[in-house]
Amino acid sequence: MAAIRSFVAVDLGALVKTRLAEIQRQLKSSTPSGSVRWVQPDAVHLTLKFLGDVPAERVGEITSALTRACEPLSPLSFSVAGAGCFPDLRRPNVVWIGVEDSTRKLQALQLAVEKALNPLGFPPENRSFKPHLTLGRTQRSAPVADLRAVGERVAALQVGALGTVEAHEIILMRSDLSPGGSRYTPLAHVSLGGAKT
Ligand code: 2AM
Repeated sequence: MAAIRSFVAVDLGALVKTRLAEIQRQLKSSTPSGSVRWVQPDAVHLTLKFLGDVPAERVGEITSALTRACEPLSPLSFSVAGAGCFPDLRRPNVVWIGVEDSTRKLQALQLAVEKALNPLGFPPENRSFKPHLTLGRTQRSAPVADLRAVGERVAALQVGALGTVEAHEIILMRSDLSPGGSRYTPLAHVSLGGAKT
């Protein structure tokens, strides 16, 4: 059976996505053209765990493990604010919008997902979880001066509080890579605190 590139994510809701689109528009018009591959605002999400290529027949097993892990949890909220770049503003690879997890519930959810999937052969990340929303990825071939300009534009952005996300579920998502950008399709919705959504 075919492999499915997949990851576990939280959806953001329409309001936050609309605001992300506004910020993306500002950045698009103020950064050198072609320097960043922008994520379609509607497709922006919070990634909890990237699984990579998974045999299609394992999707059921993964969904069951996620369901068991999420049953004892409850819905949570987090706020979206600020902007930055990974690894840093001087060498931007990823342009992100920040996520504030003041209650640490998001971190607990990410840990629960890691723990549930570890026995299925998905090793935990080596690096610590830094919740963020990827707005765009820079072109590796872009001139250094253009990349520096991207970092400067992001640094100059005044991104206040963009809104709060109320998360009631996590999504096992399929990612299909294409030259025009990745296409994401939900494989399963798993609710936080039981009951199917
Ligand atoms: P990102 O938002 O931090 O870029 C689908 O590719 C999602 O999985 C992306 O949103 C991406 O997170 C995340 N991801 C994490 N590790 C990845 C990897 N090694 N390759 C591709 N995507 C990864």
